[in-house]
Amino acid sequence: MFAIVIALATLLAACVPVTVAQPGATGTPAPAMPTRVVTMSTAVAQVIALPTPQLKGTLTLEETLTQRRSVREFAETPLTQQELGQLLWAAQGITHPAGLRTAPSAGALYPLEVYAVTRDAVYRYDPQGHHLVVQVQGDVRPALYAAALMQAPVLRAPCVIVIAAVYARTSAKYGEERAPRYVHLEAGHAAQNILLQAVALDLGAVPIGAFYDDKVKQVLALPADHDPLYLIPVGRLVK
Ligand SMILES: Cc1cc2nc3c(=O)[nH]c(=O)nc-3n(C[C@H](O)[C@H](O)[C@H](O)COP(=O)(O)O)c2cc1C
Repeated sequence: MFAIVIALATLLAACVPVTVAQPGATGTPAPAMPTRVVTMSTAVAQVIALPTPQLKGTLTLEETLTQRRSVREFAETPLTQQELGQLLWAAQGITHPAGLRTAPSAGALYPLEVYAVTRDAVYRYDPQGHHLVVQVQGDVRPALYAAALMQAPVLRAPCVIVIAAVYARTSAKYGEERAPRYVHLEAGHAAQNILLQAVALDLGAVPIGAFYDDKVKQVLALPADHDPLYLIPVGRLVK
């Protein structure tokens, strides 16, 4: 019941498939499934509603801070929709009627875009509707792994959350020189929210900054002005 597909256009999308180019790095496993970019020209966007975020947890903030550690091994079990929604809400969820979010933003301009990569698809998180929008169908994790210097967590985690930035939203007000600083500070805020939320959900995560920007952008079929800043593999702990 959690996942409600509001607008389905799979059949229409299938008429004009666009294959994502895969980096050809040596030793890179082939993707398990062919991938297909979903664009407005090929389909009405598939929108997947997320469960309402929980506002109570079992750990205190102090316990959560103490337990946060970079985790690089994960069980194979996929995240639930509730867990995924909670993590994305922690990153950029709306918490105020004026549209203000969980993470602070210089001038409340919100330059960050958050994506979730799972075995099923690449999704863009829409904070306004607290829902997912399908960006690429299929499992791009092997290609993302290649783009991230073959760091195992990117391949093994059931979900990789990607924080990207649209610098122009911030530079329009603060200028080209100051904006990158503000955007990067904000990515840190959002990333830490994700890392702490993962702990509170008894999940593990690691922030990853080492990757080829252009390859990640290509694999995720990001719009030209969405620049990836962080990959955060998240998964269930191996116990
Ligand atoms: C900006 C940044 C980039 C990072 N990039 C990577 C990375 O590419 N791969 C990785 O395994 N860990 C990465 N890390 C995680 C650090 O290795 C980790 O935070 C550090 O070893 C301290 O361990 P802790 O997170 O468990 O406290 C990164 C951390 C930060 C803050």
